[in-house]
Amino acid sequence: MQQVFEGVYKQGKEYYTKNAVPGKKVYGEEIITVNGVGYRHWNAFRSKPAAAFKKGLKNWPLKKNSKVLYLGIAEGTTASHFSDILTRGVIIGVEVSSKPFEKLLLLCEERKNIIPVLADANKPEEYEDIMREAGKVDVVYGDVAQPHQTDVLLKNCEEFLKDDGFFVLMLKTKSIDVTKPVKEIIGREEEKIRKAGFEVVETVLLDPFEKAHACIIGRKSA
Ligand SMILES: C[S@@+](CC[C@H](N)C(=O)[O-])C[C@H]1O[C@@H](n2cnc3c(N)ncnc32)[C@H](O)[C@@H]1O
Repeated sequence: MQQVFEGVYKQGKEYYTKNAVPGKKVYGEEIITVNGVGYRHWNAFRSKPAAAFKKGLKNWPLKKNSKVLYLGIAEGTTASHFSDILTRGVIIGVEVSSKPFEKLLLLCEERKNIIPVLADANKPEEYEDIMREAGKVDVVYGDVAQPHQTDVLLKNCEEFLKDDGFFVLMLKTKSIDVTKPVKEIIGREEEKIRKAGFEVVETVLLDPFEKAHACIIGRKSA
């Protein structure tokens, strides 16, 4: 096992996180044991960061003590790997739909570093009290798969991201426009990010793991 980012491990071509809840799977992923430690396979077809790693992403911002605001956490498939990484950090996970949220609540019973918030990420005022208590975050992670996904992310970055923090936008281009070429939409969204006063640090396409998706890493412009 080779550590490639803080708390992210690689063996062969596959990525893993150390299981914070020994022996327990979250989404049917494989668990392998190396020197007595259980590692959960991070499936690139089920979770976009693993797809981004496989596509050569270099600027992954999560550290073990990061505070992360997660927009569109759903039932917590990806967040469970973040929970493994953040041994001294916390995830504030926002989800608008009550069905995945119910499953997320079960996950949070076992993983105490995930704070579940049932709210609309397009209305940060719905959870500003929680955020005031938590303080500004190191990372805003956006995966809401909506037409205005970039605006939703930027709005939350403006409100809650530390000046030296990073964002990760998992862009679903087909939610924005099915008729335009993927690269044209990505370029347009990157331009929107820059106009809002942020820098695009790195962009990778996620195909064939997630078709017509991109992972965009950014931060506030100096
Ligand atoms: C692609 S899924 C997220 C998958 C999840 N991030 C993962 O990797 O495990 C998108 C999620 O965003 C949620 N969502 C959509 N619009 C939202 C909004 N305005 N606020 C919060 N969540 C939203 C959806 O209900 C859905 O659960």
